Amino acid sequence: MTRTGLALVTGGSSGIGLELARCFAEDGHRLIIVAQDRDKLDRAAAELRAAGAPHVDAWSIDLGAPDGGARLFHETEKFAGLPDFLCLNAGTGAWGDFVGQSDLYLELQSIAVNITSVVQSAKLFLPAMVARGSGRVLITSSVVALGPSPRLAVYSGTKAFLRNFAEAVRDEIADSGVTITALMPDLTESGFFERAKVDPESLTASEPKADPATVARAGYAAMLKGKDHIIAPALTGKVKAAAARLLPDALVTKFARAD
Ligand SMILES: NC(=O)c1ccc[n+]([C@@H]2O[C@H](COP(=O)([O-])OP(=O)(O)OC[C@H]3O[C@@H](n4cnc5c(N)ncnc54)[C@H](OP(=O)(O)O)[C@@H]3O)[C@@H](O)[C@H]2O)c1
Repeated sequence: MTRTGLALVTGGSSGIGLELARCFAEDGHRLIIVAQDRDKLDRAAAELRAAGAPHVDAWSIDLGAPDGGARLFHETEKFAGLPDFLCLNAGTGAWGDFVGQSDLYLELQSIAVNITSVVQSAKLFLPAMVARGSGRVLITSSVVALGPSPRLAVYSGTKAFLRNFAEAVRDEIADSGVTITALMPDLTESGFFERAKVDPESLTASEPKADPATVARAGYAAMLKGKDHIIAPALTGKVKAAAARLLPDALVTKFARAD
């Protein structure tokens, strides 16, 4: 793989995705960032150029649309070629008890963005990357993938799907030159909570949150090394991972209550 290449980061306009994009920019890679909001994309692109990216394209694509992942692939192929680094990071959630509280529209959106668009994108990008014989893919899962999370029932299901999906396909294409890494962030400061309508009075809202730059740098390093997954930040995330391995499911679920 060339020292500098083309990196595509979905959700690259804010939070963890913007910080992932900054890692590529600082290492001199060309970038495509994808999100919805045009103003946020333009601001992020300017920051990334200032951080050292030789070229930044900022595309507005609704990855929650039924053809979102396909559009992502075809526009990339047409205007930029095959990326060396693919970060499928865009994601949304929906907070609240599934019965009577959480918003079905947000839940269906999270399935569309977190699952459908990632599967569609991977189905199109991966064969071309495997045929080329090189590529690094990062899929943003979450520590909530470690067990059921009450009040984030649909979201934690999508993130468990992503973790299993990433590691299963990684195994299938072992030795192809293409690696897939699952990034599993713990609670991280970003716009995620407001968008998911997390109750500002809840424990989730008040719990300490990691710096998105710390999480992104850990994910970036793991992806470059071709690791299978990375829990970030290491300390809090690994405690949760160890607890999930050691405790019975019912206790994991009880402790994970996102209220
Ligand atoms: N924050 C946490 O505590 C945490 C923990 C574990 C995992 N994660 C995961 O980390 C990833 C990044 O989230 P974040 O925390 O950085 O939140 P964020 O700041 O809200 O960033 C989400 C990004 O995804 C984009 N996006 C959302 N819906 C989209 C759609 N339909 N089409 C295209 N782009 C879309 C957003 O762009 P627009 O604003 O333009 O829509 C934004 O760039 C997500 O997969 C999330 O599930 C977050």
